[in-house]
Amino acid sequence: MVGLSDFSSDIKELILKVPVRYPKIEGFLTMKILLTGGNGFIGSHTADKLVEMGHEVSIIDLKLGEHLRYLGRNLVQGDVCDKKTVERITMRPDLIFHLAAVSRVEWGEIDPERCLKVNVLGLLNVISWIRKTSLVPHIILASSREVYGEARTPLVSEEHPKEPKSIYGIGKLMAEKLLVRYAQEDTLKYTIVRFSNVYGSIRDLPERVTPRFVATALEGRPLTVNGGNQVLDFTFIDDVVDGITSLISHIERRNQSVFDTDLHFTSGRGCSVLEMAHLVKTTTGSDSEIRIAPERGWDVKRFVGDYSKARQALSYRPRTGLEDGLSEYVRRVRSSQDGRTS
Ligand SMILES: NC(=O)c1ccc[n+]([C@@H]2O[C@H](COP(=O)([O-])OP(=O)(O)OC[C@H]3O[C@@H](n4cnc5c(N)ncnc54)[C@H](O)[C@@H]3O)[C@@H](O)[C@H]2O)c1
Repeated sequence: MVGLSDFSSDIKELILKVPVRYPKIEGFLTMKILLTGGNGFIGSHTADKLVEMGHEVSIIDLKLGEHLRYLGRNLVQGDVCDKKTVERITMRPDLIFHLAAVSRVEWGEIDPERCLKVNVLGLLNVISWIRKTSLVPHIILASSREVYGEARTPLVSEEHPKEPKSIYGIGKLMAEKLLVRYAQEDTLKYTIVRFSNVYGSIRDLPERVTPRFVATALEGRPLTVNGGNQVLDFTFIDDVVDGITSLISHIERRNQSVFDTDLHFTSGRGCSVLEMAHLVKTTTGSDSEIRIAPERGWDVKRFVGDYSKARQALSYRPRTGLEDGLSEYVRRVRSSQDGRTS
């Protein structure tokens, strides 16, 4: 199906200028939705889909790329930790999807202070703004499998003990607790969503494992694998966006089973990082060498996410197997290199 994200920024801007934008689905209300960190990988794809569904979307982010220009005046550039910047948001949202974060485990180890400031105090600042404006939006917090630390069970459910190893995981858990605490005090409702190794778009951070493997394999350079035996849950971006937008539709319809709870949007399949390197080589047809480098102390050794709670609440089901997801990702990378949009 052709969607808004298939068009370039100029075309999207034109489409959105047409008074009746995308056909709204009969009987469905539309919401005003603020995405913090909406310029990023997951946020920008979610924004495209939400606009397609007829919602009004606003974004606050440190950076604003070309791909978001179509949102026009609903864009605020700046730091979520800065009170004055947050006050520049003119939208009065029904829902906030809070994604703004130092979004890599390694970055949290390099600069723990910045990581905790953005990932914890950034959320606090958004909550303070809501409280001042007496808005009562639903808040979705983008959290991570890192809150669990090492898995004690083959499949990790939301009930698994939360013993984060990394600074990033500690910050995400603190943010979750902060949100729950304010929800208890105020009338605000929340949903915590946890992701794991999302991949599949040219908007992903190039430093992350899948984009890095694909880029180096396509260039025929060696793939460096730290350790390699870690078994992780790689989840395709389109499945994640489907999960999020389905969640938002349930929130819109006031389905209480998704209120004040936590959900996994994961694939439910484990793949070792070394296996992933081999899969990338096969998918790209590359003869790159695989080089094993030392493990990093903060890496979890195993996480495979049980998504049965999201399946029950939302009928969430990841539809893209790893081989298909990787093939599609490589196709997107190649077509963007050919100068087309992906
Ligand atoms: N991608 C994954 O595999 C994954 C896994 C688990 C959790 N998450 C979480 O999901 C969310 C989105 O991840 P992503 O992959 O899109 O990451 P991303 O880095 O692509 O997006 C994060 C966005 O937040 C913005 N940002 C950072 N600091 C900010 C600040 N102080 N003020 C305003 N904006 C700021 C960045 O500019 C960026 O656009 C993050 O909270 C991340 O921690 C992602």
